[in-house]
Amino acid sequence: MENVQEFIDIEIEKIKSQVNGTALIALSGGVDSSVCAELAYRAIGDRLYPLFIDTGFMRKGEPEQVKAAFSHMNLQVIDASDRFFEAVKGIEDPELKRKAVGETFIRVFEEEAKKINADYLIQGTIYPDVLESEKGIKAHHNVGGMPEKMEFKGVIEPLYYLYKDDVREVGRALGLAVALSERMPFPGPGLSVRACGEATREKVAVAREANAIVEEEVMEILKPWQALAAVIGKGTGQKEEKRVYGWIIAVRIVNSDNAITAEPLEVPYPILKKIQERITTEIPDAVRVVYDVTPKPPGTIEFE
Ligand code: XMP
Repeated sequence: MENVQEFIDIEIEKIKSQVNGTALIALSGGVDSSVCAELAYRAIGDRLYPLFIDTGFMRKGEPEQVKAAFSHMNLQVIDASDRFFEAVKGIEDPELKRKAVGETFIRVFEEEAKKINADYLIQGTIYPDVLESEKGIKAHHNVGGMPEKMEFKGVIEPLYYLYKDDVREVGRALGLAVALSERMPFPGPGLSVRACGEATREKVAVAREANAIVEEEVMEILKPWQALAAVIGKGTGQKEEKRVYGWIIAVRIVNSDNAITAEPLEVPYPILKKIQERITTEIPDAVRVVYDVTPKPPGTIEFE
């Protein structure tokens, strides 16, 4: 990005001049919404209402981290996990699942927004979200998902033309905590897309533990663009000499050029082995661990 400070000044000015009342932002704690919230907070202070919806598809410790990181703002926290699990019940198809999560998000958001009665909606949409949704590759839940019945005076998307690296640069320039600005990308529908097929509570819980293990084992050492685990199915294994028909966990560690393309890392075998050992011992019903060597394209970064 050519001039970060100029970008920040212009966007803060734009928000300031546009919003004379209040504005609402859905804060997930990811890089995009965090940077966006901080920009908006600089512009309108306590007239910004960041709303954090706990979908039940968050990573380990994530809701607590978000609450702590934004405690200086007027943060509203909603635990909607029951509704989200109910919404994805019985859905196997990934696109239908994304839609169900997106719609539930909008409904919960609508209900809460009504209570808050804000004038504007601020969204952390970034350019790759727009591109992928336009091409019909994956329905990113924050694109084109503007709730129809909501009566906002307008929607503000300050990061619309930015790629992830630019967003991080803005975050750094805003003095955001490193844990936030350097956070790896995480999909809006969260662990629901890493619990392939029906995202049951059990499967999501397994995905949560496996993701925590993968992150702990590789983020510091390898510093990849993204490291994740997905529950991709069931297979036969054995534990304590008994047959276990348990979970198969796929590990994916990639470097990427702005999420448009991606290349799997050649992870040193001892690291892969440690990940396998931890997953199959710490997660009772996990019986197999596989490493995905597929670039994007033909794969995508997430499994769904
Ligand atoms: P894919 O799987 O399409 O992912 O190669 C590209 C990047 O986008 C993230 N991702 C999402 N981000 N909402 C988001 O905000 C979504 O619905 C979504 N789906 C995937 C993914 O983690 C990767 O960084």
